Amino acid sequence: MGLLIRGGDIVTGSARFRADIWCEGETISRIGPGLEAPPGAEVIDAEGKFVFPGFIDPHTHIYLPFMGTYAKESYETGTMAALVGGTTTIFDMCCPSKADRPEDGYALWREKSRELACCDYSFHMGVTRFDGDSAEQLRRIVADGVQSFKVFLAYRGAFGVNDEELYGALRLARELGVLTCAHCENETLVAEAQAELLARGITGPEGHYLSRPPRVEAEGVHHLATFAEMTGAPIYIVHLSCLEALEEAVRARLRGVRVSVETLIQYLTLDKTMAEGPGFEGAKYVMSPPLRDRANQDVLWNALRQGLVQTVATDHAPFDFADQKLMGRDDFTKIPNGIPALEDRINLLYTYGVRRGRMDLHTFVEVASTNAAKLFNLFPRKGTIQPGADADLVVYDPSYRGVISARTQKMNVDYNAYEGWFIEGRPAVVTLRGRVMVRDGGFVGPKGQGRFLQRPRSEP
Ligand code: URP
Ligand code: ZN
Ligand code: ZN
Repeated sequence: MGLLIRGGDIVTGSARFRADIWCEGETISRIGPGLEAPPGAEVIDAEGKFVFPGFIDPHTHIYLPFMGTYAKESYETGTMAALVGGTTTIFDMCCPSKADRPEDGYALWREKSRELACCDYSFHMGVTRFDGDSAEQLRRIVADGVQSFKVFLAYRGAFGVNDEELYGALRLARELGVLTCAHCENETLVAEAQAELLARGITGPEGHYLSRPPRVEAEGVHHLATFAEMTGAPIYIVHLSCLEALEEAVRARLRGVRVSVETLIQYLTLDKTMAEGPGFEGAKYVMSPPLRDRANQDVLWNALRQGLVQTVATDHAPFDFADQKLMGRDDFTKIPNGIPALEDRINLLYTYGVRRGRMDLHTFVEVASTNAAKLFNLFPRKGTIQPGADADLVVYDPSYRGVISARTQKMNVDYNAYEGWFIEGRPAVVTLRGRVMVRDGGFVGPKGQGRFLQRPRSEP
């Protein structure tokens, strides 16, 4: 048995060439022209198609208790949607409540995902408290192969950490060689602005943006970078949305702080006017940081091209419009934050990035796969196409034309923020460790094959 992918246009972060790929078991074993398939092998004709390494979403929320409700996906539905969209590995945020022991939270996320996940996955371990024996517990979680932390400078009272906790987490991260992901918004400024807006009678979704202007995010990045500088810990800024925040990240880099930056497909393609729509529709577009002025989109595309932003994620946090988003009908601070996009990230990035001339194919592969694998210790097992790598492959059909719609999506949520958007390309076949999981937009694989990825320690 084995799998031969024949005649595709192979594209990695650094190379492009026409060749066949022979996969044996779970790995790629040979790459070259004119490879023969032994009897019984499965053959996929990739003529006229690209073959990309499986894409990696470094920031999702599949299981997420948040703002008085739960994100809609199960690990089964979320990871099936990921695969259909070409994403073969996700990094889910393990976000225990402040009341939970870190190890209890970690055990819960492991339990929720076990036997359900259809694509491979790892976690970023949310440090939502840093007291008592938290450090000892976090050491054990890292030893289990979770080589990254997540901290929130926002959401005080829920996941947010104070400065002492932030300092402690970064000191530990530095000692363990762990990369710390951070949500950067100044919580005090958000809370004060929210109270003022509500007092003025601004209760609709448009209040969300007004309470979290770009400077609030920039202050968060500056704050985090200062703590990283003092502790020597490397940091990864999640969901960066605007010029002001990027400037702070670049400034920190110039000082020698080890800063990596993630943006989201939503910030590259949507803007704040969508959350200002008539009635309550804007709630579909409420997330944090909020969607920004359109001018920021060019800044972020440029930053991706120039390597100032390394990854494009989704921060997939799906809440139904019908009952969950509606919880904030009379008060925008109660609208569950999040815009689902896990299934659509790659097709949107290809269509509105590559096809519109905003990035080349290699940058596309780097920001959607390779860079995340490198940053989070999965390279070259994931994130590239070479002998010995996991046979996670996306045979991508650039001639496909279609329209995004909630009616046809696999994501378990009742709307799609991109309803009616055109896409110019989609995965024709997706393999996970040598097994065909997706054909022409349909999930065809066995369920529950996703593997928890124990990541090796960083090189000192
Ligand atoms: O609005 C967002 N981003 N929701 C998910 C939670 C988070 O902040 O990442
Ligand atoms: Zn966040
Ligand atoms: Zn998030």
